[in-house]
Amino acid sequence: MTVSYKKIGLVNTREMFAKAVAGGYAIPAYNFNNMEQLQAIIQACVEVKSPVILQVSSGARKYANQTLLRYMAEGAVEYAKELGGNIPICLHLDHGDTFELCKSCIETGFSSVMIDGSHHPYDKNVELTRQVVEYAHQYDVTVEGELGVLAGIEDEVKAEQHTYTRPEEVQDFVSRTGVDSLAISIGTSHGAYKFKPGTNPKIRLDILHEIEKRIPGFPIVLHGSSSVPLEIVAMVNQFGGKLKDAVGIPEEQLREAARSAVCKINIDSDGRLAMTAAIRKVFVEKPDEFDPRKYLGPARDALKNLYKHKCVAVLGSAGQA
Ligand code: G3H
Ligand code: 13P
Ligand code: ZN
Repeated sequence: MTVSYKKIGLVNTREMFAKAVAGGYAIPAYNFNNMEQLQAIIQACVEVKSPVILQVSSGARKYANQTLLRYMAEGAVEYAKELGGNIPICLHLDHGDTFELCKSCIETGFSSVMIDGSHHPYDKNVELTRQVVEYAHQYDVTVEGELGVLAGIEDEVKAEQHTYTRPEEVQDFVSRTGVDSLAISIGTSHGAYKFKPGTNPKIRLDILHEIEKRIPGFPIVLHGSSSVPLEIVAMVNQFGGKLKDAVGIPEEQLREAARSAVCKINIDSDGRLAMTAAIRKVFVEKPDEFDPRKYLGPARDALKNLYKHKCVAVLGSAGQA
């Protein structure tokens, strides 16, 4: 029997996105795999009053167990209320690659799924996406599709180069599939190495604007949008890490994208970096410490501060809940 996400207190993305597009901001989509990450996300979004999308990847399901993740998300709704914030919370499958995976998530209480058919030929992508939409909409679950391929590692497929989204395809894709939002490729990429060192990191906002003209007001999603803050990378390296030449998307460019049709921005790597830096610091400064709470606690605080900063200064979602 399909779990009703509405009974759990979750929401789909429809209203979130309509408000975000109208208000010129984007909803944060933060990935979680464990309790500390989830606590940090909820604490941050309650404190700054931001709606939030909790993202679960296939890797997260393998790592943490899908049943546990689902109950953690259900717990997060109650936790947010306990903290005094009745913020909209969506539980979203990140990079679903098959119909079966999307169906399984919908059955266990997800309120939104991504079907990422971007590696398939165009017609196969349309067919797969439409199949997921037809199933998901029966349960009022919203669906994100993707057109164009991001460079870097996505779905365990490594693409050396971006295949930018072709603006001339978006209208046809959106109308034939019935998707609720569209992830596009404009130069963002997954992970901490998004641009060659010494080059000028720039995403193709011109392609975004061209897409917007073709499907005005339609919710656009940006994956691979970590900014890889220099000070966090420096802190990882200061405490024994070896991250060389890590470069992310400049925050001002994401802010500009969020002011237009981009209404969901995916951030995972920055959180991984912030946690790693905080944990390494404790290990170096207090080598006699062996209570996980003593290093996961500071990591959680660092994550929370990072997420608050994103909501306020990058996404513009603070105060919108
Ligand atoms: O899109 C990638 C996300 O950062 C999730 O990463 O598949 O390693 O959990 P993951
Ligand atoms: P980053 O690796 O840039 O954080 O992107 C995360 C992402 O797109 C999750 O789907
Ligand atoms: Zn992604």
